[in-house]
Amino acid sequence: MNLILMGLPGAGKGTQAEKIVEKYGIPHISTGDMFRLAIKEGTELGNKAKSFMDKGELVPDEVTIGIVKDRLSMDDCEKGFLLDGFPRTLEQATALDELLAEMGQELDSVIHVDVEKDELVERLTGRRICPKCGATYHVIFNPPKQEGVCDKDGEALIQRKDDQPETVGNRLQVNLEQTQPMLDFYRDKGYLVKIDGAQEIDQVFLDIDEKLKTI
Ligand code: AP5
Ligand code: ZN
Repeated sequence: MNLILMGLPGAGKGTQAEKIVEKYGIPHISTGDMFRLAIKEGTELGNKAKSFMDKGELVPDEVTIGIVKDRLSMDDCEKGFLLDGFPRTLEQATALDELLAEMGQELDSVIHVDVEKDELVERLTGRRICPKCGATYHVIFNPPKQEGVCDKDGEALIQRKDDQPETVGNRLQVNLEQTQPMLDFYRDKGYLVKIDGAQEIDQVFLDIDEKLKTI
């Protein structure tokens, strides 16, 4: 199953991706997670990405396309993949089309998790993540069992730098401008499936799963 998960920052892509990959056994390819790991490890890629991410800007296309190309060429993608946060520009979408054609693969579906912008500020500023295992929580909507501590490994939770209130506004604006042309692009190709992402987390997954069962 070859899937793309689209949506504005905070729409719930990462939260739903965890559930989809667990059920369908396909690799989760999140460009945001790959960049965050590179920053943590202090690699050249991390150094390139950091200044853009900290401001809520997009990382340049050639860098982003390069890492996705490398990742999709790995063996585990033969059974399918879930792309999360990629593509985000028409250049990236065109590059992905070419890459899939080279791999002899086709997309099955582009799932758009749709949430109004106004709700996203609260979701982003209240998000907390585990620096060890990457699990995502929310101080109100999805709190850990013990405040500030990861359920899975007891690690202290942290806030992403780009979730600080001064960055969130710019991130949403940048992504609002980029997202609409992407939605049009995939709608025209007949891949787009819109899911109401303003519902409870488990209901959003039930709706996604309902669509995936028909693929
Ligand atoms: P990336 O990591 O992709 O971030 P994003 O798109 O900004 O998305 P988020 O991770 O913020 O949100 P999400 O939709 O995954 O929401 P989540 O499930 O966590 O990208 C980060 C940066 O990397 C970009 O700004 C850019 O600089 C760079 N980058 C990445 N890809 C790139 C590309 N292709 N090109 C160029 N640059 C790129 O949920 C959010 C919160 O809400 C959580 O706390 C969660 O618990 C809660 N929540 C989730 N669902 C619900 C619900 N249904 N109800 C209530 N709360 C909910
Ligand atoms: Zn953890």
